[in-house]
Amino acid sequence: MPHPLISSAAGPLKGTCSVPGDKSISHRALMLGALAVGETRVSGLLEGEDVAATAAALRALGATIERADDGSWRVHGVGVGGLAEPDAVLDLGNSGTAVRLLAGICASHGFTAFMTGDASLRQRPMGRIIEPLERMGARFEARSGGRLPFALIGADQPLPIEYRLPVASAQVKSAVLLAGLNAPGETRVIEPAPSRDHTERMLRRFGAHVGVEANADGGSVIAVTGYSELQPCVLTVPGDPSAAAFPMAAALMVPGSDIVIRRVGVNPGRIGLFETLREMGARIEMGPRRKLGGEPLADIAVRAGPLRGVDVPAVRAPSMIDEYPILSVVAACAEGTTRLNGLAELRVKESDRLGATAAGLRAAGVTVTERDDGLDIEGCGGPPPGGGLVATHLDHRIAMAFLTLGMASGKPMTVDDGSMIGTSYPGFVADMNRLGASIAAQ
Ligand code: S3P
Repeated sequence: MPHPLISSAAGPLKGTCSVPGDKSISHRALMLGALAVGETRVSGLLEGEDVAATAAALRALGATIERADDGSWRVHGVGVGGLAEPDAVLDLGNSGTAVRLLAGICASHGFTAFMTGDASLRQRPMGRIIEPLERMGARFEARSGGRLPFALIGADQPLPIEYRLPVASAQVKSAVLLAGLNAPGETRVIEPAPSRDHTERMLRRFGAHVGVEANADGGSVIAVTGYSELQPCVLTVPGDPSAAAFPMAAALMVPGSDIVIRRVGVNPGRIGLFETLREMGARIEMGPRRKLGGEPLADIAVRAGPLRGVDVPAVRAPSMIDEYPILSVVAACAEGTTRLNGLAELRVKESDRLGATAAGLRAAGVTVTERDDGLDIEGCGGPPPGGGLVATHLDHRIAMAFLTLGMASGKPMTVDDGSMIGTSYPGFVADMNRLGASIAAQ
């Protein structure tokens, strides 16, 4: 059932908040825990629907995953190569990360697994993982266009490969590296431009041998050595910078706001939004960086103030790939034009995010030009008119972005369905309302 939500003008946001655990790191913590021998403990895990889908699939593959009374999670792994054939279809819901990384893991197990997802995930391209994983010896029977549902027939004798990524995608990189864990020798991924490196960092934490070398064209070569045994770990997941983007944007746009977001992950592969907002004149201060479980984190202080439009270069896209809807909303309040470039990948996210963002901005009375791989947004130099209804297309980030806009626009913003927010940020409405927002069921 769709669950429409309405967001009206907020008073200044004040105080300290925290955001849920990083989604990318949470998926990987459960997956590597399932491939280690013994008990991995994870605190700060994102308890959202996407990660729940990963947990359910890993249980169906033979791992034991439980929530302890103190809120931490215990994963009893079965060892690299030790997963068992699932006896039912694995449904990964809305999560591209879950299906692509799990397909990588299953590709080097000699069994058959059937995978599917919700209406959004069934539209998304899987050819990008099918191609390299078939080179490693797996076979796939997918729907037309390489889409889900598919049957994956894992390789009995997987082959290590060297694979040059055709798109800057951490999911594709991770699928190949995870498949390589159960293949002989070294599996190598050549990455033309950096993408988030949570898989590499976490593999090292679990004791795998991962080498990273710069190559001549400015990219890097990542090599994982197969058949290494993974050691269980104790992990703490930092707050998700992609979730922190919403209170951060709200505090920038709502006059008089002054907030601190605690313990946010600041992995260099994830902080392109902070850089862009600073170029727009945003008052964002990052406290001292600490390291937790191989990942850097920091407290982030944000204060409202005037913002100006900027050109966001295409090279920055991988480090803020999930943040363009909320950046577009901030750009609508800035003075001048913001140009977003090199974003063809946004068309194949949980929704066509370029189209959905442009339509949402127009619904709010903002002038926007949609290009094949970008947007030009005419900032209103203050609160946009607002008052529109936004179609979310099963996309949590479109829903959260336009509810955030409603906090700063002249008239309230309505989204047609807020139910998908639970995939990545189950406490979003409560957290935002605690800070001063007024978001309610429509
Ligand atoms: C993710 C990688 C990105 C990102 C997604 C999470 C990951 O996708 O958009 O939300 O956890 O590896 P791509 O690899 O398709 O760019």
